[in-house]
Amino acid sequence: MEQQPPQPSPSDAAYAPLDVLILAAGLGTRMRSHTAKVLHKLGGRPLIAHVCRTAAALMKEARPIHIIVGHQADEVRKAVVEELGEGGAVFITQIEQRGTGDAVMAAREELTDANSTLLVLSGDVPLMRPETLGALVQQHRTHRGRGAACTLLAVRLDDPTGYGRIVRDAENRFERIVEQKDASAEERAINEINAGIYCFETQSLFPALSQVKPANAQGEYYLTDVPGILRTGGGDVSVYPHPDAREVSGINTRVELAEFERILRVRTLRRLMLDSGVTFVDPTNSYVSPEAQIGRDTVIHPGAHIEGRTLIGEGCEIKAGVRITDSRVGNGVTVKDYSLIVDCEIADNCSIGPFAHLRMNARMDEGATVGNFVEMKKSRLGRKSKAMHLTYLGDATIGERTNIGAGTITCNYDGANKHATFIEDDVKIGSDTMLVAPVRVGARSVTGAGSVVTKDVPPDSLVAGVPAKVKKTFNEEHESEVMSQKSE
Ligand code: UD1
Ligand code: CA
Repeated sequence: MEQQPPQPSPSDAAYAPLDVLILAAGLGTRMRSHTAKVLHKLGGRPLIAHVCRTAAALMKEARPIHIIVGHQADEVRKAVVEELGEGGAVFITQIEQRGTGDAVMAAREELTDANSTLLVLSGDVPLMRPETLGALVQQHRTHRGRGAACTLLAVRLDDPTGYGRIVRDAENRFERIVEQKDASAEERAINEINAGIYCFETQSLFPALSQVKPANAQGEYYLTDVPGILRTGGGDVSVYPHPDAREVSGINTRVELAEFERILRVRTLRRLMLDSGVTFVDPTNSYVSPEAQIGRDTVIHPGAHIEGRTLIGEGCEIKAGVRITDSRVGNGVTVKDYSLIVDCEIADNCSIGPFAHLRMNARMDEGATVGNFVEMKKSRLGRKSKAMHLTYLGDATIGERTNIGAGTITCNYDGANKHATFIEDDVKIGSDTMLVAPVRVGARSVTGAGSVVTKDVPPDSLVAGVPAKVKKTFNEEHESEVMSQKSE
């Protein structure tokens, strides 16, 4: 059998270096939104972030990605920097959105490497894979052994309405692209469409682009005129046919956004079920971020939302209506119905809820329990400690095996500042105790029901009353300390 020569990879040094340009200046009128389309979220991340991640995965060399911004430029920049880091992108502002051709033209001065191959993408095509773009670049570079002037990605659609159609000549070669609004009835019947994903040679792109006129139904400068201009000028335009239309289609309306959300969700849940061994009691009613990780034999009940970069261990039980965002959850953890957990760290074998609210870096050490209507903020609950009912723990550090009685509140806010509460190991905080911070309760101490603790409680003592006073001590060693407090 004849051996194929090894195909060079897209970033192979034998070829011109690759630049990427993402068009993201438009408002996206069809979204009917005050928010620029590329900032709308899919799988919890802005559309533009999806495109940036794909582009970055393709670029093996560390070259910044060029991005055309316009509508809500500051917010778009922020979303990009969050994804690519500072220096990961070069931003070019297109002040007035006069069409995709005008958008590319705006980048002329910034694309300093005239010898590069330029991959042009849209900020509203979130599901495309780096492999697909790699194959497009590959075809572009190897076309007829010398490379093409332009290669465009095409798909066939049952309903091509709204897209630019690919017009071919009598020999079935690419001739030009015609936009929906400018197409004749005959052209509108063409179902091969331009996906808006192209490779150009930077050198020949800009001379062709400067010939583009806004002489069309929309009065815009169409980037889609460029392949036809190149072809007329004797350039070679190649078409890369892609079989998966959905992967490369853009989002134009909220209906399409919702459809993409569904696709992404199904994909995520399938992966978690098939590869990770997670049980979803009702996959049609489970919401998991594509970036979340969940361990084997964890069971997710209906209506749960696992968001952001949440990490959940093995053998956990996440009950109905729970929301967990950007948190780490260990193994064997039970989160009971309707609990909300944001930016938290939960160690193995903890139990949470129902109706618990943990936020702002709340931490639970191994085997700790938080029950009904308990809120924890910036607090740490030590090993095997419990806060079972109706409690607020804010800016509190709680030791091991301590029990926080029903209705306990850390009064952490004095109207101006937040103060810390420390509760040491093996403490029993009585029901309805108010801990007026800053305050510390020593190890093995007990507070009586309804105590208002305004001063530090020494270890091994019982305090009670309003304000709480030491009533008893459990250890001779502290007797003198207790006596001095009593005489105050
Ligand atoms: C474009 C193509 C069409 C193709 C379709 C695929 C043109 C003229 N038409 O149409 O052939 O089938 O994509 O999805 O290119 N943008 C700017 N500045 C502008 C205008 C647009 O940055 O002045 C950006 C938009 O923010 C968007 C992208 O370019 O990210 C595409 O623009 P859009 O208006 O969505 O083009 P389509 O009408 O979908
Ligand atoms: Ca579009």
